[in-house]
Amino acid sequence: MKNLFIFFLLSMFFIQCNNEPAPTDDWNKVVDGIHVRTGLKDDPNIQTVIGACTTCHSAQLITQNRATRSGWEGMIRWMQETQNLTDLGQAEPVILDYLAKYYPPEETGRRKNLELYDSDWYELKL
Ligand code: HEC
Repeated sequence: MKNLFIFFLLSMFFIQCNNEPAPTDDWNKVVDGIHVRTGLKDDPNIQTVIGACTTCHSAQLITQNRATRSGWEGMIRWMQETQNLTDLGQAEPVILDYLAKYYPPEETGRRKNLELYDSDWYELKL
């Protein structure tokens, strides 16, 4: 009886250990140039960005921001100085290129907005 109980406990333990959700085929699915799981623009270097930039917070902090390359560099320095972001080493220029390419400053105030009401607007996710 006692052995049975120990067997039961061990089984539960192993069942528990195998319970991790396995990454599925959807893990790195890309639809219309967007990496679905993170919302980031797809790119050959996207895994470098995901690896360095989504461990502390969601990628939405990136996708909702716009800046020049040096603006992005400033945000990285700020996180390094105040939020324990570690030195990104050789990944830093790769990440900055990515950010400056896909999330550059929005053009504002130069002219009136174009009236493109029937074009493909995207939903802003908050
Ligand atoms: C060590 C943890 C950590 C890592 C790794 C990290 N960040 Fe952050 N980041 C933070 C914290 C903490 C904040 C502040 C979050 C808040 O205000 O809720 C933040 C905020 C931000 C913001 C918002 C800044 C603002 O002015 O509002 C952006 C953009 C950002 N991070 C981008 C990145 C990018 C790009 C990377 C990859 C290079 C990255 N983060 C990696 C910790 C991290």
